[in-house]
Formats: sequence, C-alpha cells, structure tokens
Amino acid sequence: MYVGFIAKPYLYYMHSSHPIGVFDSGYGGLTVFRSIAALLPEYDYLYLGDNARAPYGNRSFETIHQYTLQCVEWFFKMGCPLVILACNTASAKALRTIQQNDLPRFGSEKRVLGVIRPTAEVIGNYTRTNTVGVLGTKGTIQSGSYELEIRKFFPDINIYSLACPMWVPIVELGEYNSPGADYYVQKYIDELLTMAPDIDTLLLACTHYPLLVEKIKKYLPAHVQIVAQGGIVANSLQDYLGRHEDMAAAITKTGAKRFFTTDDTTDFDVHGLTFFGSEIKSEFVHL
Ligand code: DGL
Repeated sequence: MYVGFIAKPYLYYMHSSHPIGVFDSGYGGLTVFRSIAALLPEYDYLYLGDNARAPYGNRSFETIHQYTLQCVEWFFKMGCPLVILACNTASAKALRTIQQNDLPRFGSEKRVLGVIRPTAEVIGNYTRTNTVGVLGTKGTIQSGSYELEIRKFFPDINIYSLACPMWVPIVELGEYNSPGADYYVQKYIDELLTMAPDIDTLLLACTHYPLLVEKIKKYLPAHVQIVAQGGIVANSLQDYLGRHEDMAAAITKTGAKRFFTTDDTTDFDVHGLTFFGSEIKSEFVHL
C-alpha cells in the first residue's frame, strides 16, 4: 500500500505500549495527572499539553471540538485505549460530540472520559449550606454543563457560576505567583461573593486554577472550602477501571510516563515541574 511521504511516523508504529492518555490544552491537566499517577502508579501514561494553541477557554465550540478531536486522534494513534480529557473546557465543549459522533469510527473499544461528570457526582457532598460557587473558563461556564450535571445528582443545590477569563493566561504564562496576579484573583472572587455571599464551597472547575489556590485563599472567607478536581478525578478513574476489567487489562502496566507538548519543551519542563510536582522531560509533537 502506498502511504506517501507526508504520513507521520506514528502511523507506522505498532505499539507495544497501551497507556492511558491524559489531555489538557496546556499545563493544567498536570494537576489532575499528578493525582492520577499517585493513586494508580502501575499504569503507563501519555500526557499531551496543546500549549501551542492554549488557552482554549475563550474559543468557539467548533474550534475547541476540532483541536480536542485532533489530540484524541493522536492519543489513539499512539496506542492509548483510554483518554482522559483533564480539561473542563474540552469536557464541556467537545466531549459529548466526540463520544457520540467521532468515537464510533475509531473502534468500539476506545473510550474518552471527561472531568465534569465525576466532579458533579460528588460536589454536593462538600456543602452544608447547599450553596456552591463554580469558577471556570468562559467556555465551561457558558456551556452550563456544571449546572446540568450537578442537578442530576443534587437537584436542590444552589449553584453560582462565574467565568474567570484572565486566570488561565496568567497561569499559562507562569505569572501565578506574581503580585500582578492578585488583581485578577481578587476581582473574580469579589464578583462571586457579591453574587453569592452564602457559598461555603468553591469548586475550581478549571484544572489550571489550583496553581492560584494560595492567592484565592487570600480573598476568600476562611470558612469557604476550596475543592480542586485532581483527587476526585483520580478516584473516579480508579472506580471506572475497577468496573471495566477489559479496559484495565488492555492498558499496559510498567509505570511509564511520557510527556508531550505542541510547543517549547524547555518551557514545558520548567513550568510543568510546578504543576506536576516532579521532574518532567517532555517531547515535542507536531499535530
Ligand atoms: N485547564 C483547562 C480547563 O480545565 C483550561 C482551559 C483553557 O485552555 O482555557 O478548563
């Protein structure tokens, strides 16, 4: 069969490794991957950050779907049977279309999971006042996905959502510890508290936001608990693999982790260290 010169090398490669794919638009998914790898260290993993095109948060549905699908296809070509979208924006705007329209042509054994449903399943257990604040990107908040999913499990909960469009760029550019970041952290927290003074739980519905947690605490009343998604998603994946033995068996288990970025690997390794909590040696991929 003639395959031509433009075909990419991974198309030819028969994979002996079948890792779990973990995806984010950039660095944020590393905060989730960190928890997953700590809880389930025996599995092999590939992480892909689409840093060259991040942030996704302010982009249209079509663009987010197109970018996410391209990354999911790459994971499948790299031998992953299961991909976790460790990105709320991609989970909100692309996951359903990928699961319903795109996945069938990749084969029935492939799976793509997101981070919104596992979070929605448990968030109501955190609140005593039944009032939760949800902070996310413009794409995640405007999609209304959290309201929809949370109400399936906790119909009586009061949800106050706010988009924080400046937070991902601040984090992605490595400015999360800078004094300049305080302005935008305080701005959005003040807006949320004005809208919803009774919240006792704040969900960080963007995997980049844990990097801002110390600044968020500064502007939030002490009684409001902050919930990040890493542990929640890791527990949910453990549960999923326990219930899907075929999938668990299909994933190779040597504890190997590889990191890929669509942008500069040096930047990725430097920033990634903070997000992931240990040394990273990333590889460049052109999608
Ligand atoms: N970490 C992504 C999320 O959870 C950030 C999205 C973006 O690129 O704006 O939504």
